[in-house]
Amino acid sequence: QKPVRIAPSILSADFARLGEEVRAIDAAGADWIHVDVMDGHFVPNITIGPAVVKALRKHSAKPFDVHLMITPADPFIEAFANAGADCISVHPESGPHLHRTIQTIKALGKRAGVVLNPATPASAIYHVMDMIDLILVMSVNPGFGGQKFIEGQLDKIADLRMRIDASGRDIDLEVDGGIDRETAPRAIEAGADALVAGTATFTGGPDAYAANIAALRGDR
Ligand code: DX5
Ligand code: ZN
Repeated sequence: QKPVRIAPSILSADFARLGEEVRAIDAAGADWIHVDVMDGHFVPNITIGPAVVKALRKHSAKPFDVHLMITPADPFIEAFANAGADCISVHPESGPHLHRTIQTIKALGKRAGVVLNPATPASAIYHVMDMIDLILVMSVNPGFGGQKFIEGQLDKIADLRMRIDASGRDIDLEVDGGIDRETAPRAIEAGADALVAGTATFTGGPDAYAANIAALRGDR
C-alpha cells in the first residue's frame, strides 16, 4: 500500500483568508488541496467555482483535488481544468453518461476520479476502472463539513481495495467525510491510501495544522 496522502478540504478554512489558508496547509504538509465545489442543487449547499480555484492556484504547487458536487458537471469540467485542477472527481449521479464525462476529463489531460455516495454501490465504478485514476468514497452525505463518519462505508473501502489490487492499475483510494484521529486509522486499515480532512485539519488554528495533518497520516 502507498504512503497515506492527506488532502485538507478548504471547506473548513477561513473563507475570508483562503489564499493564506492554502499556503498554511501546504507548509503544514498537505499532500493535495481538496476543493469542494457545490451548486445548491446536487447538494444542499453552495461553495465556490472555477474563479476561486484559479485565484488559489498561485498559492500552492501541490495537486488540486477538485470534488465536483454539481449537476450537470459536464459543462464546467473544462473551466475547472483551465483554472488549474489536477484531479477532477465526479459523482455518477451528476449526469447520464459517466463514461463520457471521464473521457472529457482525460481528454483535457487531467486525472479523473469517481465519487461514491454512501448509498452508491462500489459496482458503480467496475466498468470504468480501466480509465480512472482515483476513487473517492464518501463516508458522509456530501454537502457539509463536520459530519459523523458512516461506519458502513468501511466494507465498501475494503471491496474497492481488493478490486484495485486485482486490476493491477494505479488507482488512488480516497475517503471523504468525518475523518479524524479515530476514524483515519480505520479507513487506512480498510484500504484507503488518501484521506480528505476538513474539520480535523483546520481545528486549533494555523499553528496546529502541521500536527493535525501528521496525526491523520499516523505519524507519531
Ligand atoms: C462534504 C465534502 C467534504 C467535507 C469534509 O460534502 O465533500 O470534503 O469538507 O469535511 P470533514 O472532514 O469536516 O468531514
Ligand atoms: Zn470533498
